[in-house]
Amino acid sequence: MQLLTSTVGRKILMAITGILMVLFVVVHLLGNTSIFIPGGLNAYAEHLHALPPLVWAFRLAMLTFLVVHVLYGIQLTLENNAANPKGYAVKRQLKANFSSENMIWTGLLLLLFIGYHILHFTVRVTPDIVQGVDSLGRFDVFTMVVSSFSHGIISLIYVAAMVVLFLHLKHGIQSFFQTMGWSSDRSLPVIVKVGAVVAVIFLIGYSSIPVSILTGILSK
Ligand code: HEM
Repeated sequence: MQLLTSTVGRKILMAITGILMVLFVVVHLLGNTSIFIPGGLNAYAEHLHALPPLVWAFRLAMLTFLVVHVLYGIQLTLENNAANPKGYAVKRQLKANFSSENMIWTGLLLLLFIGYHILHFTVRVTPDIVQGVDSLGRFDVFTMVVSSFSHGIISLIYVAAMVVLFLHLKHGIQSFFQTMGWSSDRSLPVIVKVGAVVAVIFLIGYSSIPVSILTGILSK
């Protein structure tokens, strides 16, 4: 129970739920890159939805991770602010930077993005959505994604969200290792670099999809 009440316990739960969501971000990026293989994205989506109970179990798990991560994130930030009011700059974080100072804001923006993204490509209720089937009778995810990102403003929203994701994970990944106590004075600089590189890979990898569509590299 200490895990749910103590500051350290709640930080550990945030770290674990955070890293599990990072694993999802890795898998989702790998899946999405199938858009660059002809017919790849539709085949991938079809396989993904082949076992609905598994899909729903996975969604429930992800939702639980998200709720725990967000609620504890808000709670710990409020407690931290109450303990260190602004203007009393003694207990500032060591080596703070834009990314580490704005975790609550980048986190809340990501929550907003995830809400929009699910309404967009999962629930498919935004006005830009084009729904149909391909020549093999599969749901045409490829045409849906390409049609949406052909709107400059939608591509811009996604690339901006990927910059926010980059800022959140640049600090978040290294923070996971520190919270778990898996870093030392020697390993920390390496962990910080690896975290930043992984965050850049997500930024470039995800952004490459809207950018490829806007520039005509990918088209219907
Ligand atoms: C260019 C970037 C992205 C593209 C093209 C993309 C594409 C998609 C598509 C097509 C779906 C619907 C899958 C289906 O129902 O068949 C989906 C679902 C989803 N995506 Fe993304 N995605 C992108 C970025 C992201 C990022 C950065 C995150 C997380 C921070 C994310 C989180 C999710 C979630 C949580 C779902 C719902 C999964 C479900 O249906 O249960 N996506 N995405």
